[in-house]
Amino acid sequence: MIIDLDKTQNTILNLLRSSQRHNMEELIIYLVNNGFFIYPASIENHANFKGGLAHHSLLTTRLLIDKIIKIEELKEKIDTAVICGLLHDVCKADLYDQVQAKNDPPTDKQINYVKNLCRENNVQLNPLWILCKSNCTQILNWFQGKTEVPVFKTEDDIVFRIKPNRTLLLGHGEHSVYRISQFISLTDEEATSIRWHMGCHDMGGDYGEKSYSEAYNTYPITRLLHTSDADASCIEYYNLTGVIE
Ligand SMILES: [Fe+2]
Ligand SMILES: [Fe+2]
Repeated sequence: MIIDLDKTQNTILNLLRSSQRHNMEELIIYLVNNGFFIYPASIENHANFKGGLAHHSLLTTRLLIDKIIKIEELKEKIDTAVICGLLHDVCKADLYDQVQAKNDPPTDKQINYVKNLCRENNVQLNPLWILCKSNCTQILNWFQGKTEVPVFKTEDDIVFRIKPNRTLLLGHGEHSVYRISQFISLTDEEATSIRWHMGCHDMGGDYGEKSYSEAYNTYPITRLLHTSDADASCIEYYNLTGVIE
């Protein structure tokens, strides 16, 4: 999927600035300089295209705002929805990097799997495709009808990957909270919602279950952020563009 990167970035920056948080400009500089508007939202699943992380964050925010404006007790919390929706996956700006396709070799197992799949389906592998790790995934997703025909063609193609040798070893939600808090202040409600936005998919240890249910019961926005995030991921994973404008 190809999106308008500039338009998505400008929309997000306008929304972030509208929140009038102290030091927001420093956070914006961090986002711009660390690939937030370039990286995908995932390598193999939803929004796995250039700019997918920004696109996913904006879609999550729209879905979240759609929900809270219909709820009397929450409808004044647009600011909180903007901060939680746009920044819940900020950790991914630290998680990914980009390399040339030829520097991202697939495993033998991946190559054999793709080749067998092509043979079984009478599909000729385009000789211009580089069989790097990401391209194998793209080809598999294409077979399953989740993406358009892969477009990798030259040796200079850039692919995204999980950054090797990371030094910050936090869980998904708290990594985002940590990174955001280096620049702006979060309310308890926002920090809790971002920490638990993955719901039961990120329980975080033995004491997780208690905190998870406590968070959901204490802050309704925590649960709504989780469902908005899940809906956005589903829409993107199955390429259901146009379902929600
Ligand atoms: Fe997430
Ligand atoms: Fe997300």
